[in-house]
Amino acid sequence: MGKMNTIPVSLGTRAYSIVVGQNILEDASAHLPFALNERKIFVLYDRAVEGHAKKLSSALGGNVHMKGVSGGEGAKSFTVLQEVLDWLLSHKVERTSVLFAVGGGVTGDLGGFAASIVLRGITLVQVPTTLLAQVDSSVGGKTGINAVQGKNLIGTFYQPAAVLCDTATLETLPIRERRAGFAEIVKYGLLGSAEFFAWLETAGQDILDLNAAALNDAIETSCRMKAEIVGEDEREEAGGARVLLNLGHTFAHALEAACGYDGRLLHGEAVGIGLVLAFRLSARLGLCSEQETRRVENHLKGLGLMTDIAEIMPKPSHGAEALYDLMAQDKKSSGGKIGFILCRGIGKAFQSRDVEKEDVLAVLRSSIKA
Ligand SMILES: NC(=O)c1ccc[n+]([C@@H]2O[C@H](COP(=O)([O-])OP(=O)(O)OC[C@H]3O[C@@H](n4cnc5c(N)ncnc54)[C@H](O)[C@@H]3O)[C@@H](O)[C@H]2O)c1
Ligand SMILES: [Zn+2]
Repeated sequence: MGKMNTIPVSLGTRAYSIVVGQNILEDASAHLPFALNERKIFVLYDRAVEGHAKKLSSALGGNVHMKGVSGGEGAKSFTVLQEVLDWLLSHKVERTSVLFAVGGGVTGDLGGFAASIVLRGITLVQVPTTLLAQVDSSVGGKTGINAVQGKNLIGTFYQPAAVLCDTATLETLPIRERRAGFAEIVKYGLLGSAEFFAWLETAGQDILDLNAAALNDAIETSCRMKAEIVGEDEREEAGGARVLLNLGHTFAHALEAACGYDGRLLHGEAVGIGLVLAFRLSARLGLCSEQETRRVENHLKGLGLMTDIAEIMPKPSHGAEALYDLMAQDKKSSGGKIGFILCRGIGKAFQSRDVEKEDVLAVLRSSIKA
């Protein structure tokens, strides 16, 4: 067995740990903060990771109820939520029952939401199996499903009792999904640690190739950074630290909306472009250097991520104005001006609500034409 790390998330009575390591699912019960004893166990899994889910179930021993759902945004719906609740209730779920959500961010958000509302809340264990879920969505307690009016509009803040990140599960994850998750790792360096970003510039390819040591360190540092931010600002209060996690995301959400969530553009891919645009906007406003912006761009490009809007919409049906309107509609904007996360250099992010529309449009236009 390789290296194993435990990262605490300090949230008072809702504190929990993230365990990161290779093959930790094989002795999963040893990593839980509670005894399973007579508790009923429910394993909700993405069908793409059925093998990993079965491994987990046998490690938990005995009486396990299993249900497979499909991956992809479609599963974050009322229909699938109802199926999950039905499954739990028809197997006589109890207040002491435990739900394990095994899969990517979709299964985690769906399973987390179901666990938070069934019987007003049962114990939840997140078992993320995408790189994105291991460094981002499984940590922090946001759960939810999508509405026709927009993504993630229905949900709860509900902290898991534990997060088990088994890096061995990533071996089956397609390279495109690994790259998308990697963009979120880069985000942590750019928002809060120049040192981490500099390390990623040398270790990036090893991480994508699933080199165990590099992968472990990257996930651990990312989780530590997210845990620290979430510990300061559990519920994303106005003016709280959590807003920094939106670096690149104001742009990314608009690009995702413009592409229609049809799988053409993965969330992490949109984030990669969004990070570059956030740096270009910061450079345009004189906050950081062109040289740093170039560094961000070269890093992402060098690892096969996209850096310009032109790469996803060669003949844009959505021009700069339309993208700007989508940003203004994003739930994170309030009182007219859009909140942007800008950088005073790599590792130094802050929120600003004073960005002129013209500056944003100029950055968008040049990226559409690039
Ligand atoms: N709760 C949060 O704080 C938070 C944060 C970021 C993102 N999210 C949400 O996360 C979702 C995106 O997560 P995602 O990128 O993990 O998407 P996902 O769950 O759809 O997984 C991506 C794809 O990988 C497949 N897959 C998963 N694990 C695999 C494995 N080990 N091997 C092979 N295939 C595997 C899935 O079936 C799917 O096709 C979005 O819905 C987003 O809103 C939530
Ligand atoms: Zn994201």
